[in-house]
Amino acid sequence: MEVSQVTLSIIVPTYNELDNPKRLINEIMRYLPDGTFEVIFVDDSSDERSIEWLNALCKTYPFVRLFHRVQERGLGSAVVRGLELACGEWIAVMDADLQHPASVLPEMMRALSAGYDVVIPSRFVPGGSDGGLSLPRKWISFTARLIGRLALKRLRKVSDPTSGFFMMKRAVIEGVALRPVGWKILIEILARGSYTLILEIPYTFEARAFCESKMSLYEQWNYLRHLGRLILDSPEERRVYLFALVGASGVFVNELFYDVLIHLQVALWIAGMLSGFIAMVTNFVLNDRLTWVDARAGQAHRRFLKYVITSLIGIAISTVVLSFLAYGERVNSLYANGAGIAVATVWNFYINNFWTWRK
Ligand code: GDD
Ligand code: MN
Repeated sequence: MEVSQVTLSIIVPTYNELDNPKRLINEIMRYLPDGTFEVIFVDDSSDERSIEWLNALCKTYPFVRLFHRVQERGLGSAVVRGLELACGEWIAVMDADLQHPASVLPEMMRALSAGYDVVIPSRFVPGGSDGGLSLPRKWISFTARLIGRLALKRLRKVSDPTSGFFMMKRAVIEGVALRPVGWKILIEILARGSYTLILEIPYTFEARAFCESKMSLYEQWNYLRHLGRLILDSPEERRVYLFALVGASGVFVNELFYDVLIHLQVALWIAGMLSGFIAMVTNFVLNDRLTWVDARAGQAHRRFLKYVITSLIGIAISTVVLSFLAYGERVNSLYANGAGIAVATVWNFYINNFWTWRK
């Protein structure tokens, strides 16, 4: 087949799927016109019969390609290998076990031609369903999505970021180094890829009819490791975590000096203000060197000035909260100061992010 004719490369990772790939090919051929697509199986099977089925498919259909791996294993890295081999301008990834219906492919292609960069069939938009998962798996999947979307900002706009089913333009991943840990290649692409328009369309995740799922506890652990790596690798994503860490060190400095000042019989509101100032200086240095290290534009003293203004307003906010809680002995004054700091922290992050360290 002429490489230039292929619009769509469908990458299918397989591991001991027996004749499921054949069923999948039949489904794909029902929905896509001949000659417009190729299917790349990236196979890690240990089972001889599964490998034979794939070899037979390759011989029968010119649009089927097989890459069999011996050294490596794992869903995510299999897809990355498929991406390297793909010829199409558009690339789809789907499972071999028919849980991802091929009937959605034409609609996904229409969305790409309409200008979307990534199309994700979702179980969690109106009309979609995750009926094919057992109750415990539903719960695990829910928790995984929740953690993922809390951890990474770029996953938040997507309802089904842990899906193994999606289609995208090649440009989304061109020049992007993908280093997935474990299964969830889509979170890798969403976190590192370049795209603007994402569309989610509903679909029903069917129950697996043949063979078994390869999901394991180890893969769930990998998922957490994967999220951690994506946070560390992205200046944008790790900012809020670094800011929280720097902030925690500031809380310690603040509370320490506050406690000392209180013991020196300094008035409560003065102690609150002074300890805030000291923590502000140590926090500025750490934030400038760590949190926003990639966003240091202009002169340092201007950043410091902006930081001071932001923090002063922050201290005013926290002092109001502190006074409100501590006077009249409503709350222990150390806790009251802590509550004030918490409110001021949120204020500080946003103002600093959009003003002090604006590139
Ligand atoms: N090459 C390769 N190597 N393929 C693998 C491996 C591996 O180590 N492990 C699994 N696969 C293949 C399977 O053969 C199948 O085609 C696909 O990856 C998904 O594996 P399943 O075992 O069917 O996973 P699942 O159904 O429990 O979970 C799937 O659906 C979820 C919901 O959409 C996966 O796609 C998940 O990523 C997805 O969240
Ligand atoms: Mn499956």
